[in-house]
Amino acid sequence: MESKLIHFDVLGDNRGSLIALEEHKNIPFKIKRVYYIFDTKNNVRRGFHAHKNLDQVLIAVKGSCTIHIDNNKVTKEVVLNNQSTGLYIGSLVWREMYDFSDDCVLLVLASDYYNENDYIRNYEQFKTLAENNEISRE
Ligand code: TYD
Repeated sequence: MESKLIHFDVLGDNRGSLIALEEHKNIPFKIKRVYYIFDTKNNVRRGFHAHKNLDQVLIAVKGSCTIHIDNNKVTKEVVLNNQSTGLYIGSLVWREMYDFSDDCVLLVLASDYYNENDYIRNYEQFKTLAENNEISRE
């Protein structure tokens, strides 16, 4: 039920810049999958899901987009427009992505393989699962 921004050190010299992503170092989990979203059409809003058990880090490696996150207690809008900033999103956080610039490439690192059974695509179901999870932690 967690999200946070992660700053990545930029390694650079007079040739340009480089950022390295390493599991259990600047990425707080074992990376099993990498995917990227690009060529997103104008006015598209995507995502609309949470995960039962998945950690992800989102990085706009080119361009910009906005991520709406909702942990059943607070909602936040996070603008990703910098290669050196990643947004960590844990389990049971609803996310929607929008305002993609034409050139946006959104890189996503994930802690597990693609598994449709791990998706919660119904918002009411997300709220119920998140509430039950909060109660079981009390
Ligand atoms: P979808 O979950 O709709 O994307 P988003 O959450 O960004 O709106 O995924 C689009 C399609 O891609 C869908 O058919 C599932 C498939 N997919 C994979 O096969 N592997 C993956 O790692 C991901 C993220 C999606």
